[in-house]
This record gives sequence, structure tokens and C-alpha cells, in this order.
Amino acid sequence: MCGIIGFIGNKNASEIIYNGLKHLEYRGYDSVGVAYIKSKDVVIKKDVGKLNEVNSKLNFLDVKSNIGLGHCRWATTGAVTKENAHPHTDCNNIIVVVHNGIIENYLELKNDLIKKGHNFRSDTDTEVFSHLIEQKMKEGKSFEEACSIASRIIQGTAALVIANTEEEKLIGIKIGSPLVLGVSDFGYFLASDIPAFLNYTKKVIFLKDFEMVVLDKSGYRIYTIDESAKMHETEKKVYTIDWDAEQAEKGSFDHFMIKEILEQVDAISNASIQDVKKLEKFSEKILKSDKIFFVASGTSYHASLVGSYLMNKICGISTIPIIASEFSHYINSINDKTLIIAISQSGETYDVLEAVRLAKNKGAKIFSIVNVNGSTLTWESDDYLLMNCGPEIGVAATKTYSAEIVLLELIACFVAKKFEEGKMKINYLRNIIYNLTSESSRNAIKDIAKFLRDKSNLFLIGRGLLYPTAMEGALKIKEISYIHAEAFAGGELKHGTLSLIEDGVPVIALIDEATKDSTLSNAREVKARKGIVIGVSPFHDEAFDFWIKVPECNNLNPIAFIIPLQLLAYYLAVLRGFDPDKPRNLSKSITVK
Ligand code: G6P
Repeated sequence: MCGIIGFIGNKNASEIIYNGLKHLEYRGYDSVGVAYIKSKDVVIKKDVGKLNEVNSKLNFLDVKSNIGLGHCRWATTGAVTKENAHPHTDCNNIIVVVHNGIIENYLELKNDLIKKGHNFRSDTDTEVFSHLIEQKMKEGKSFEEACSIASRIIQGTAALVIANTEEEKLIGIKIGSPLVLGVSDFGYFLASDIPAFLNYTKKVIFLKDFEMVVLDKSGYRIYTIDESAKMHETEKKVYTIDWDAEQAEKGSFDHFMIKEILEQVDAISNASIQDVKKLEKFSEKILKSDKIFFVASGTSYHASLVGSYLMNKICGISTIPIIASEFSHYINSINDKTLIIAISQSGETYDVLEAVRLAKNKGAKIFSIVNVNGSTLTWESDDYLLMNCGPEIGVAATKTYSAEIVLLELIACFVAKKFEEGKMKINYLRNIIYNLTSESSRNAIKDIAKFLRDKSNLFLIGRGLLYPTAMEGALKIKEISYIHAEAFAGGELKHGTLSLIEDGVPVIALIDEATKDSTLSNAREVKARKGIVIGVSPFHDEAFDFWIKVPECNNLNPIAFIIPLQLLAYYLAVLRGFDPDKPRNLSKSITVK
């Protein structure tokens, strides 16, 4: 999705906005723009392209000002053009807006505003907001009142930072998309995500939907906006977050993705440090519920598939993993005896939040597994466990996938009264991940990537816990290297896909002790049709053209086996000349339908 940032204070805004955008670029990178307020006037610079490209053309840093806004775009409404890049203004360049989300009723509002004489310059939904505020102010409302009224008129999702150049104020409003307030002794920040201002402050106020922050140089005020658009001033707690600014920096690594793959050694132990009382609550709820659904999207959905196998294997409990955007089709079977376990790195994925809200309306309880503390999912849940991974910046999720599986394993072990045993196994996995990510292991994978770099299709097979692992491996490969990769349960190969196997077609076979005989026989079927078999397993077999050795880790095999596949995807992207941190058309956090 898009990233938004605003700053007001007594430091140079241009540097702060530029640095903030660098940390938000993972949310959108098809166009970028900034606005600086100076002597009641506004300077806007925006264009199509990534931050460094547009900055080298327009120089975002040459304006000295104490109030600024910035936006990096992942286009939804309106093509990728300079005119559609944010910020957007009203007719007189007094109201300046950056927005993340989708205003569903924008056409109707736009037509009405045009009739009232407003002059639109873009095809975006966002521009409606600046003109709507202008209109309400024309009708006699204050800037604050106009913003709160506009927030109740629009339908859809929005996180907005709005500047008033004449009053030298910033307003932030959260409606379904993420927005946090950063507080420091030299100024205030509004941003989609904490890493945007982590270099400047660790003091954060988490905002809820229909909360509005008014910022001027003297301080901040927070209001809740009720359904009739009335503002009620509210006190909010300031949290000090324990994320390290360095965690949000690439440091000496070429990309965030490789940094985050290597960080998994620590990520899994950090994820395993959990409050036993919370695990007890999860466990009790699982045992008392009639039906248990996992709800998640993307990589988190793959983790939920692993979770479903683990719950069955470790404690004999059946669970139903559902892709969040499909959840509404299951709504008739949800009631007050249902437990939803929602899994989300960001805690802001629209599909997940929508599923959770639907389930809550039917009386279900919501327990979640989340990385970003203070995210919307944490507020929407009856209880939640944190992954403790620190910020994950690479669009392709890596360390949070492993952390999600650690938590699912811990929950299952807790239910089965095997908690200590489960925890010990996770500690043991640390050394294994260390070896799987060592320089020599990375070089071996790089060699396989060199062999695969010009292939246009590849397949992955696995059974049991290694089937969702194959799915996650395929997702990593296709999303960043753009090679078509598809995963199959080993047993399904003979039901169709085998017809695609011919001379030179690569198949990555994930094989552990539990699935040795069956998946090896699939690998041999591939070999017999002259396919190339890349075996990922604890043992070698003559069917393998390449072998990636992974030690047997039983229930934790999904973590051990995904490491070489993450590395393979990474090297394939790099060798093919693509930026693994910013895959085309994708975004880290999808806050729209
Ligand atoms: C996007 C990201 C994926 C992620 C998915 C779910 O599609 O590109 O990497 O797995 O959203 O995100 P969540 O934050 O809910 O885990």
C-alpha cells in the first residue's frame, strides 16, 4: 500500500520526510512526492518513479521548512502518472493531503464538488478529500471541523495527513488504514509505520479508527470523531517501543531481504519468548471451542496451513485454515463457540481485518499472532501473541514466517502439555539455521540459482508439513524473481502436473523422513521424464541432479526447509537483475480490498 508521513516541529522537515520515505518505500514505489509548508505557502515536488530516482531529478532536500508531508504510492485509483502522485491540494493550494487507502464513494463526491465549482487536477480518489475540506471551510467550518466532517462523509479506508498552509497545522486521521503518532521533544510525526521515524523517536501513540490528531508547533491534541462528526478530545497513552533503529536499516547488506533471512537465527528464539499465561489462555480457548479457523493472507496463510498440520499432529485437534479474503463465504458456520486465530505480520491487512470483524459480529472470539504491536489487529483481538521479530521491511516475508511457525508450534505443544519439549526443539533449531545461512550454504544455493536463472517454469513438491513449505517456497520464487513457480502435494503430481514435466523442467522435491518413500517415488517419476530434480532433504538419492542438505527437524521442518528456498528466491531475483525488496506490483502491507 502507500506510505504516508508528516512532520511538524523545530527541525528541518525535508530531511525527516526524506528519511521517513526511505523507510516507507516498501509500502509503495510507483511514484513519490513531498510538500513543504513555508511562510504560509507550499512547495510540492512529485513524480513517477522510485524515491532515489525522483529525488535525483527534483531534489527533495533543498527546501528548508519545519512542516512537511510525504507519500510513496502503490496505485489504486488513477494510473501511475505525475498528476496522480500525492500530495494533492484544494483549488487554492491551502489544503494539502497525502492518503493511504481507497475512498469508495469518491466519484459521487467529486461530481458534486465539481458542480460546486471545484477544479480537480488528478484522477485519484484522494483529491476529493482536499476539496471536501475546502468546501466545508467555505461553508464556515474550522479546519478541524471540516476534517472531521469529511472523515464521516467518505466511505472506504483512509489514513490521511492533511496540512493547512495558512494555519501552519497538520491533521492526521485514521479510518481503517494504519497511522501512528511519534512524539519527541523537537516535534511530532505522523506515519503509516513506526520505522518511518524510529531514527528520531521511540515514543509512540497508537491511533484507533476515527481518531484525529491535530498538530501545531505547540503540541498535539487527539480527538475521537463520533458518528455525527462531533469531536471529543481524548487522552492517549504514550508507549516507548523497544524496536532498535538499526533493525530498520539495511546496514552493510545489499538488501533487507537477505538481512532478514539471516536474522532468522535470532527471530526464532525471540519468538519463543512468550508469557506462559497468554499461552495458557490460547490453549484453554482452543480446547473449549467447537470450531477453530485460521485466517490469514499470503505468507501468513502458508504459516496457517503449517499450523493446521501441527495442531492435528501434535494435539489431534482439527482446524480450518482459510484465506482471509475467502472467509466471508464460510460465515454461516461461525457462532459464539468459534475461535478465529488470525495471523498477520503487519496486523493491518484489510482482508484479515474484514474477516475478523465479520466473525466478531457472529460472536466468535479472536486470538491473533501479530508482529506489529499496536496494529489494528491487536485492538480488534480478544488476545494476541507477538512475534517479537522487530520491523520486517523486505516485501517478501521471511523472518516473520518462521516466527509465525514457532508460535504455532508452541501453542500446539502447550495444548498437548509438551511445552518444555517444544521450546527445547526451537532452541536446538538455532544452530541449524545458523548453518543453513552460513556463507558456504549461501554459495551452494547461489550455484543452483545460476543454473535455474533462465528457466521460465519450475515446480515444487512436498507432502505433509512440506506441502505448505513448498507453497511458501513457490510464492517466494515467483514474487521476487518473476519465474513461474507452482507447488503441488507430491501425491497430486500424477493427477495432472506430470504432463508438464519434460526434458529439463526443474522440480524441487522437499523430502523429510516422514515422507521419504512417497515423495522420493514422485522425484523418480520426474527423473524418468527427464525433469531436473533438486532434492532438499536430510539424505541424498540418486534421483537428485542437485542436493540441498537440510537436517531432519521433524515438526520444525517447515522452518529448516524454507531457509534454502528463501535464499534461492533471493539469488534468483538478484541474478535476474530484479530488486528483491521491491517486487513489481506488490506491497508489504495490503490495506485495501
Ligand atoms: C502482502 C505481502 C506478503 C504478506 C501478505 C500478508 O501480500 O506482500 O508478504 O504475506 O501481504 O501480510 P500480513 O501482514 O497480513 O502477514
